[in-house]
Amino acid sequence: MRIALAGLGHVGAATLRLLQANAELLAERGQMMKVVAVSARDKGKKRDCDVSGIDWVDDVLDLAKRDDVDIVVEVVGGASGIALELARAALKNGKHFVTANKALIAAHGVELAQMAETHKVQLSFEASVCGAVPVLKMLREGLAANRISSIRGILNGTCNYILTRMESEGADFATILADAQKLGYAEADPSDDIDGIDTANKLAILAAVVFGRAPDLGAIFVEGIRAITLQDLRAASAKGGRIKLLGIATRNEAGEVTQRVQPVFVPLTEAVANVGGVFNALEISGDFSGETLIQGRGAGDPTASAIVADLVDIARGNRGYAFGVPAEKLV
Ligand SMILES: NC(=O)c1ccc[n+]([C@@H]2O[C@H](COP(=O)([O-])OP(=O)(O)OC[C@H]3O[C@@H](n4cnc5c(N)ncnc54)[C@H](OP(=O)(O)O)[C@@H]3O)[C@@H](O)[C@H]2O)c1
Repeated sequence: MRIALAGLGHVGAATLRLLQANAELLAERGQMMKVVAVSARDKGKKRDCDVSGIDWVDDVLDLAKRDDVDIVVEVVGGASGIALELARAALKNGKHFVTANKALIAAHGVELAQMAETHKVQLSFEASVCGAVPVLKMLREGLAANRISSIRGILNGTCNYILTRMESEGADFATILADAQKLGYAEADPSDDIDGIDTANKLAILAAVVFGRAPDLGAIFVEGIRAITLQDLRAASAKGGRIKLLGIATRNEAGEVTQRVQPVFVPLTEAVANVGGVFNALEISGDFSGETLIQGRGAGDPTASAIVADLVDIARGNRGYAFGVPAEKLV
């Protein structure tokens, strides 16, 4: 499989390192995978990966036009702009498209899934939710037999890290946020994370796969963790629990779906309360499976694991509808 990699930042560099480090293993498990072209903004930038011997392409959109590319991997970011243009161009030109971009999929996932079906290629975005944790695969495949009544999860590692450290160190929100930014666990502009927008994007994608609904950010009530104080955490602790930022989607007997992102009191007796630091977790209630909990690392280098798992699936010929059902069925 010949791969073009758009974006060589944190996730892009980790993806290239993984493909190079585990090349033999990946060839045994799927097919030989070769990155033939890369693109980013600044060719001269020092990178955390080795691009020698790989074609550098100045205009990222040119990656989608190359005859020697089977799969385009997008790790640039953004709900629209260059990421959307690249996705449309790649799918239209008959290339498989793999992305870690939750904002793109939450906003344009249905259109892109339709394009993938029309052009008979794969659209995959496992890395967009919960990093290395294979939540979409589990929902689409492992739990496919179930009618799912609810999902709830810790979907943003930055918020979980901040809340965990506030509690364990008895420090206030602003102090821990500033330190998290210094350590690289929070962005310079942290609003997408701490205001719950990142969690909402991921919840919209999960809800689409679970309930067969088109991702709809407007349908999600969103409240972040900016207003959470040390006093709130102490009060939760006194009552035998913790405050976690959760993404929750439920379907009632009448088939109505409710989606919300908000800080929630979780008793310590529930496993989700004990998922700390940068870890992500998702709890799923299925009618025959009962409760299932999956957890792991939700960001950074582990994200590359999910991207490459999507590549292995494509290499093996394991293809399927991006959201688990045909795009026209997403209402
Ligand atoms: N970081 C995480 O932990 C994580 C986890 C899960 C999903 N994701 C998703 O993965 C994607 C990438 O995240 P990241 O953290 O790797 O971002 P990042 O470190 O900011 O990297 C972005 C890359 O895109 C390149 N780029 C930006 N604008 C471009 C343009 N107009 N044309 C060509 N290249 C352009 C940048 O080029 P330069 O390097 O030259 O500036 C950089 O290499 C995002 O969608 C994000 O939501 C990230």
